Amino acid sequence: MQALGFISASVLLLSKAQASLYGESSLNHSCVLSPNILSCSTGADPSQVDTCCVETYGGLVLSTQFWDTYTGLEDGGQLLPENSWTLHGLWPDFCNGSYTGYCDLSRQYDPDPSPSTTDDGTEIPPYTGPNIGTFLEPFGKLDLLEWMNTYWIAQGQPNADFWGHEFSKHGTCYSTFDTPCYGPQYNSTPHVDVVDFFETAVLYYKRLPTFDWLASAGITPSNATNVTYSISDIQGTLASKYGAVPYVGCSGSRYNETEAGSGTTDNGRTVLSEVWYYSHVYGQPQSGHSVPVNASGSSTSCASTVGAIKYYERTAGSTRSV
Ligand SMILES: *[C@@H]1O[C@H](CO)[C@@H](O)[C@H](O)[C@H]1NC(C)=O
Ligand SMILES: *[C@@H]1O[C@H](CO)[C@@H](O)[C@H](O)[C@H]1NC(C)=O
Ligand SMILES: *[C@@H]1O[C@H](CO)[C@@H](O)[C@H](O)[C@H]1NC(C)=O
Ligand SMILES: *[C@@H]1O[C@H](CO)[C@@H](O)[C@H](O)[C@H]1NC(C)=O
Ligand SMILES: *[C@@H]1O[C@H](CO)[C@@H](O)[C@H](O)[C@H]1NC(C)=O
Ligand SMILES: *[C@@H]1O[C@H](CO)[C@@H](O)[C@H](O)[C@H]1NC(C)=O
Repeated sequence: MQALGFISASVLLLSKAQASLYGESSLNHSCVLSPNILSCSTGADPSQVDTCCVETYGGLVLSTQFWDTYTGLEDGGQLLPENSWTLHGLWPDFCNGSYTGYCDLSRQYDPDPSPSTTDDGTEIPPYTGPNIGTFLEPFGKLDLLEWMNTYWIAQGQPNADFWGHEFSKHGTCYSTFDTPCYGPQYNSTPHVDVVDFFETAVLYYKRLPTFDWLASAGITPSNATNVTYSISDIQGTLASKYGAVPYVGCSGSRYNETEAGSGTTDNGRTVLSEVWYYSHVYGQPQSGHSVPVNASGSSTSCASTVGAIKYYERTAGSTRSV
């Protein structure tokens, strides 16, 4: 679920099906002994550092959130948390802003791979086993599972299928969540990497209260036709709270195709729907020691005209109080 194009496969010298990005040993990943190097800095060189302890593959870490107004699975109890954006994922983009996905097909837990092939053209087999949420049970992490079912909410698919997508598409492309990082015991404690990735995604998300940040500037959901917002206010508010400019995504009609925007050249979209907070990280992303950085490339898909953006209220019956 990322809107940029897939990059060419030239960097991915290793086969996508193998379990390690760098083919490292499972020994000696005591990160407490490792220097706390910032991802995307010159020191974050995989030939110079322990790649389990310094993010060297996808060093531009994006904590991403959604604003959806319904889930489509309300009948099954899949609801949105009131007055809160939802967690989308924690993505390891390359330092230059491009990205890849599905970096380890031995950890493919996505029932509906999208795209359906890796960027070297390998078919990604849809996952058919027990959903990734069940992986938390042997660890006794029922509190985490409950939290995820409250805040990590999918639209049009069961939450756990979406978590499987996020882990296998994005989580497998971090050097620091790679299987050798968990030591020789990895095979006897499978999915410890999945738990670690989920907990890290939660850690970043919890520091980014998008709903409250916007509300503090008077930007709250409203379906009233006379209540509209400007991308400069939305993005400016989030940037000042976060400390760097996040990417703000809109869906819905293009402004030039709405009645209000007819005849203009503003072809940005008009329904507020996503935000991506970019950072670099010291050492393991797991530590949460991150530094906000501005979004790379285009920083919005929203219409730029003053008052062009709708921030819709959730559908009645699609939310739960939290
Ligand atoms: C961005 O970085 C990746 C990883 O190093 C590389 O494969 C890719 O070619 C780069 N893309 C551009 C547009 O420079
Ligand atoms: C792990 O560390 C030990 C002790 O420093 C060293 O002897 C050994 O060569 C290292 N093994 C690997 C695979 O790095
Ligand atoms: C929008 O319209 C409603 C009802 O007509 C009115 O009470 C409200 O003050 C208006 N809000 C704005 C921001 O103009
Ligand atoms: C609006 O912009 C899009 C994208 O640039 C363009 O394809 C479309 O023709 C425009 N629509 C109108 C009505 O001008
Ligand atoms: C980030 O964006 C802000 C606002 O556009 C700008 O003032 C600042 O210089 C940018 N920071 C960097 C490091 O480019
Ligand atoms: C507000 O509008 C959105 C978009 O049309 C819709 O999905 C939602 O159900 C509406 N909410 C309410 C409370 O009317």
